[in-house]
Amino acid sequence: MAASVTQLVLLLCLSGTLADQSFTSSDVITAEESIRRDIKAELKELRDMVVEQNEELKATKAALDIQRTLVGDLRRENSALGASQRTTAVRLERLEKENKMLKTNMEMEKKEKATEMTPAQGLNTLGTKVAFSVALDCPGGLTYGPFDELTRVIFTWVSTNIGNAYNPATGTFTAPVQGVYYFRFSGVDDRANMWMGVFLYKNDQSVKYKQLQNGDGHLNLSFTVILQLERGDVIDARIFPGTRFAAAASGDINLSGFLLFSL
Ligand SMILES: *[C@@H]1O[C@H](CO)[C@@H](O)[C@H](O)[C@H]1NC(C)=O
Ligand SMILES: *[C@@H]1O[C@H](CO)[C@@H](O)[C@H](O)[C@H]1NC(C)=O
Repeated sequence: MAASVTQLVLLLCLSGTLADQSFTSSDVITAEESIRRDIKAELKELRDMVVEQNEELKATKAALDIQRTLVGDLRRENSALGASQRTTAVRLERLEKENKMLKTNMEMEKKEKATEMTPAQGLNTLGTKVAFSVALDCPGGLTYGPFDELTRVIFTWVSTNIGNAYNPATGTFTAPVQGVYYFRFSGVDDRANMWMGVFLYKNDQSVKYKQLQNGDGHLNLSFTVILQLERGDVIDARIFPGTRFAAAASGDINLSGFLLFSL
């Protein structure tokens, strides 16, 4: 296009200076016409370019709009994320605080328990000591029972009786302190086809019962029980009606017990 403008200027100059020379006016008109056509074409081209650029601009604007919307969305998402992150951080902090409080509480409880336990342990080690082991006294062997009624077994053979809580005259054990106690009964029948049955009583109420039949002629019966007793609670063993024990020697039918710890 710049070339066409230069051509036109040149032509105008020439038409002024060379009009009176060898060029005819029709020659000049034809040249001018051709240049005008060129210019027209170039103008059209220019217009087309402008239209095209306009379109491009519109498209760019639209893209820009979309990007702006996207950026806006991202900003919103980001701030929402930030908010949720802040909430999470707050929650975490609260949980950490709660955790600390729980730990402190637990430590305090532990300390409290430790101080609570000290006097009881002290009482057990420094205070009451209870342990007994007693049996039926029968040096040459003995068949004990059967009886028509429930009968208290009076163990007269005393092996151990620390604290004298067992009374060999009555066959009863009386708890000297409130606490947890261990008791074990053992008996035997060495002859065939008889039943062995025994109860442990606490204050005239059964707390443990065991019955066995010695089919082939020899059977041991025993049980262990752990009881929480108040001071003064009475424990004794009673043989079930119609059952018996048969001992080969002293000690074969026996009861033992001790204080595990006081309360
Ligand atoms: C019963 O106990 C005695 C010893 O106390 C043992 O010799 C015997 O084998 C036991 N009997 C049974 C049937 O477990
Ligand atoms: C108690 O009796 C059982 C069964 O007869 C016997 O095995 C055990 O040795 C006895 N225990 C004591 C301490 O005499």
